[in-house]
Amino acid sequence: MVVRNLKLVNFRNYLTANFTFHPQLNLIVGENGSGKTTILEGLQILALSKSFRSNVDADIVNHDESYYQVFGEFEGNNDSNVTLNVNFSKNDGKKVFINKYPLKRRIDMVGKVPTVILSPDNQNITGGGPSGRRDFFNRILSQIDLEYFTQLIEYRARLLQRNSILAAYRLKRKMKYDTYVETQDELLAKAADYLQKSRYKFLEDFNPVFQSNFEQISHVKKPVTLKMQFSVNTDSEDFRETFLRKLRDRFAKDLEFGRTTCGPHLDNLVILLGDKEIRQVGSQGEHKVVLVALKMAEGQFIQSRQPESVIFLLDDLFALLDERHCLKIVNEISRKNQTFVTTTDANLLNKYGFDESNSEMKIIHLSVARS
Ligand SMILES: Nc1ncnc2c1ncn2[C@@H]1O[C@H](COP(=O)(O)OP(=O)(O)OP(=O)(O)O)[C@@H](O)[C@H]1O
Ligand SMILES: [Mg+2]
Repeated sequence: MVVRNLKLVNFRNYLTANFTFHPQLNLIVGENGSGKTTILEGLQILALSKSFRSNVDADIVNHDESYYQVFGEFEGNNDSNVTLNVNFSKNDGKKVFINKYPLKRRIDMVGKVPTVILSPDNQNITGGGPSGRRDFFNRILSQIDLEYFTQLIEYRARLLQRNSILAAYRLKRKMKYDTYVETQDELLAKAADYLQKSRYKFLEDFNPVFQSNFEQISHVKKPVTLKMQFSVNTDSEDFRETFLRKLRDRFAKDLEFGRTTCGPHLDNLVILLGDKEIRQVGSQGEHKVVLVALKMAEGQFIQSRQPESVIFLLDDLFALLDERHCLKIVNEISRKNQTFVTTTDANLLNKYGFDESNSEMKIIHLSVARS
C-alpha cells in the first residue's frame, strides 16, 4: 500500500491539516512539538484503527474540541484504491469507514494497510517487561494471519470469562474444579493451541530475518537470538492436554490469586545478546540497535507473507542509530516501500543531500505555530 494523502481534523495539535505524500520517501522535519509524530499516529490509526501512543481516543481529540476525524487515500499494489476514514467523538465513540461504508468489525481492517512503526517509545520492547514483547509478536502475527488475530481475541475473551468465574466461585466458596469450569477451559485451550503453534513457527522463521538485519546494522560482535519462554512448555503436539491438566491442577491456586496463572498470555519472548538477556545486560546503544533490527525484520517478515507493500513509519530514527546506518536503512527501504522519517534536525537534510529537487522524495516542513 501507498498512502497518497492524509487529512486530520481536531487531531491533537491539528485543527485542520492536509498532507500529500510521496510514494517513496517522506521526510517530516520540524522542531519539538510541531506535530511530526502526530502525522504518523494519524496514519497508524487509519491502518489499525488504533494509536501506537494512546489507548484512549479522547486523549487524541484536540483539547478544545469534542471529536476527531482522520481521512486517508491509499493505493494498493494492483491499483486498487481504498479510502479510509476514522471518526471519534466523545459522545458516540469510534467509527471506521472503508470506501465510505461503515466497518462492522475491527478485524476487517487488520492487514489491509500493513505498517511498521518504529518510535523511541518502542524501547520497552527490548528494555521493558514481557507484555511489550508480546504486543510486538502479536502485532506481527495478527497482520499476516487473520486466524491468529481471531484466536487471540477469542483467547482474551475466554480468559476474562474464566477470571470472572474464578471471582464468582471464590465469593461463593465453591472450591471444586467442576464440569462447568472444565467446559470453559476446553474452549480456552482450543484458542491457546492455535496461538502456541503459531508462536513456535514464528520463532523459527523470524529469528534468521532478525539476525541478518542485526548483522547489517550493528558493530556488536555478539550474536542475537530470540527465544520463547512458554508458560506451558511442552511439545506442540501435547500442548492442549498439558494445558488442560495445568489449568485443573492449578485451580486452587488460581482461585486464591483470582486470575489464571498459566497460559499463552504469560509467554515471554526473550532477546538474547550472546547468552545473556539484553534486558539485563544491554548497553544503551545495544538496546537501540537491537530495536531497529527487530523493526526492520518485522517489516521484511510482514512483507514476505502477504501481497501488499508495507508502509514504514520511522519516528525519530536518527535518535536511535548513527547517521550513516540511518541513511543506509532509509535509502534501502524507501526504494521498495513507502517510508516516513521524522527528524528535528534540518541540517541533516543539507548534509546528506536530501533536497526538494530530488524526485524520489518529499520534504514536509512543520512549524510549531500551525493550527
Ligand atoms: N489532545 C491534544 N490537543 C492539542 N494538542 C495536543 C494534544 N495532544 C498532544 N498535543 C500537542 O501536539 C503537539 C505535537 O505533538 P507531537 O508529538 O506530534 O510533536 P513532535 O513534532 O513529534 O515533537 P517531538 O520532536 O518532541 O517528538 C505537542 O505540542 C503536543 O503537546
Ligand atoms: Mg515526536
